[in-house]
Amino acid sequence: MSTLFDLNGRTALVTGSTRGIGLALAEGLAQAGARVILNGTRAEAVEQAVGAINERLPDLQPASGRAFDVTDEAAVSAAFAGWDREGIHVDILVNNAGIQFRQPLVDLQLADWRRVIDTNLTAAFIVGREAARRMIARGAGGKIINIGSLTSEAARATVGAYTAAKGGIKMLTRAMSAEWAAHDIQANAIGPGYILTDMNAPLVADESFDTWVKNSNPARRWGKPEELVGTAVYLASAASSYVNGQIIYVDGGWLAVL
Ligand code: GCO
Repeated sequence: MSTLFDLNGRTALVTGSTRGIGLALAEGLAQAGARVILNGTRAEAVEQAVGAINERLPDLQPASGRAFDVTDEAAVSAAFAGWDREGIHVDILVNNAGIQFRQPLVDLQLADWRRVIDTNLTAAFIVGREAARRMIARGAGGKIINIGSLTSEAARATVGAYTAAKGGIKMLTRAMSAEWAAHDIQANAIGPGYILTDMNAPLVADESFDTWVKNSNPARRWGKPEELVGTAVYLASAASSYVNGQIIYVDGGWLAVL
């Protein structure tokens, strides 16, 4: 049983992993045996997260990090070229990097729309393409885990660009499966519910929003980043070798009810 979920010998790149969901997933994959590579846009934040993870998990494979902007095609390909030179193969990619920008659609500037779509959707294509090219060439399969949202399924006022991007993530995941499943690459997504992260801090601080979350969700509470780890380990491991193109919602049951 334990070998089904064992990630020993695997390397996992988690984008946007200096904090929040990304950091929790990186730590969880490391605990399952993977050697993890952290990423963020700021070098010191990446260094700090790598230090923190290695201090908390001293007996595991040391984590490493690399700062680059996931929306920058040249920077992404330079990062992968660097790993090629070092003989590092990314076996597991978690496309987690994401941003939020809350504004009604009628007031939303095109530049902000583009920023949100680029970071939450286009980056998953850019990084996913680099990873998959190498997985296919190597012939050893691979795992891609995209991070969706409740908004992959249902809209909420004021987060229109994010909703469009996360809906796109659901279909990009299927598109990846359609083309890459024959290479033993499993591309799946996780759709987190409302999770206690820095990104959501303004929502948690808003009493009426907090009440809405607690009343709408059958679990009657927010989720914690570490509650996404089990699904990520499953989707990163041999346990999901015939699971492809799916989005698994980890939302306390929110999408199951009206
Ligand atoms: C928001 C939140 C979202 C949610 C997510 C739930 O503003 O609606 O920031 O990111 O947390 O959509 O899946």
